Amino acid sequence: MQNTVPTSIRRLGNLAVSSLGLGCMGMTTSYGERDDAQAIVTIHRARELGITFLDTAEVYGPHNNEELVGRAIAGRRDDFVIATKFGFRITADLKVAPGLAGLDGSPDNARRAVEGSLKRLGTDVIDLFYLHRVDPKVPVEDTVGAMASLVTAGKVRFIGLSEVGPKTIRRAHAVHPIAAVQSEYSLWERGIEAEILPTLRELGIGLVPFCPLGRGFLTGTITSTQGLGAKDFRQGDPRFRDGNAARNLAAVECIAAIARRHGATPAQVALAWVFAQGDDVVAIPGTKRVRWLEENAAARELALDKADFAALDAIAGSIAGARYNEHNMEMVDR
Ligand SMILES: NC(=O)c1ccc[n+]([C@@H]2O[C@H](COP(=O)([O-])OP(=O)(O)OC[C@H]3O[C@@H](n4cnc5c(N)ncnc54)[C@H](OP(=O)(O)O)[C@@H]3O)[C@@H](O)[C@H]2O)c1
Repeated sequence: MQNTVPTSIRRLGNLAVSSLGLGCMGMTTSYGERDDAQAIVTIHRARELGITFLDTAEVYGPHNNEELVGRAIAGRRDDFVIATKFGFRITADLKVAPGLAGLDGSPDNARRAVEGSLKRLGTDVIDLFYLHRVDPKVPVEDTVGAMASLVTAGKVRFIGLSEVGPKTIRRAHAVHPIAAVQSEYSLWERGIEAEILPTLRELGIGLVPFCPLGRGFLTGTITSTQGLGAKDFRQGDPRFRDGNAARNLAAVECIAAIARRHGATPAQVALAWVFAQGDDVVAIPGTKRVRWLEENAAARELALDKADFAALDAIAGSIAGARYNEHNMEMVDR
């Protein structure tokens, strides 16, 4: 593999980003043990591979994920496009419900959160600032109005939303141009295709698919919750639990069969499928390992054919289990 590749660019609204991003969440939270040194090497290797769009959030940790990203980009800030998110109330007492005290989309919280994120990231401007979850107690116009003021103040370049339905997207976009919407989108989760994706395309908003590897399941390397740590997010993920994982392995086998034909891996097929969905789509597969990063980067070169797409199309309809448990589903705007 070449050591440095030119960055191929896609656009999220008017924000130019590398055509593939890197999800940083799992580097400090949700999936397995932390290894900061390895994570930082992964971020630096991403730069060499032309993957410069990094995704983090205040709530990851909370705080320690932004701190890690800040350490990784120190002295090379301009090489990266940094996206982070706010929208939760973080309690001072981290022993209480691991630092989270519900949603908070208030203008005050937007103004508070941005200062903390700027500090932890070690930067004076955030390239893409998302509302992580819509707060039903606060009109989205008020939240986005406050985010727009942060653009005017030069603290944020572009605004995004995460886990939002079409009505909210329109209301928010009427207040200030939304550059990107971040939603779960992958071979096993295609719920956004009916209404959300057409709305984004009508309005010229980019899509940032999260969990494009189905939190690792679609790679074929995780077949159940056995072997995952007790605190691993996937212990509570319906698709990994209660017999659903065993049923969902048929989908992985379908992906693996296509991968074998191409001399590729299942992860590469899953990412090539997302990559092929359009130039306005920029996935952020997550990994803390150079090995997976390099494999995922190469998925940009994998061209699937018509027969592959037809076979892969059948997967989403066969999946057992909801994408979130009830608690997490309640926070999703529809
Ligand atoms: N907006 C939201 O609400 C929201 C929700 C979830 C995630 N996100 C963002 O989206 C990003 C991506 O989602 P995600 O990380 O949850 O899920 P993902 O990208 O679907 O999967 C990540 C998992 O796949 C594993 N993996 C990655 N590449 C692999 C490969 N080539 N072969 C085998 N395993 C591989 C990783 O392993 P290792 O951990 O061992 O590297 C990790 O366990 C996150 O990092 C986060 O920034 C946003």
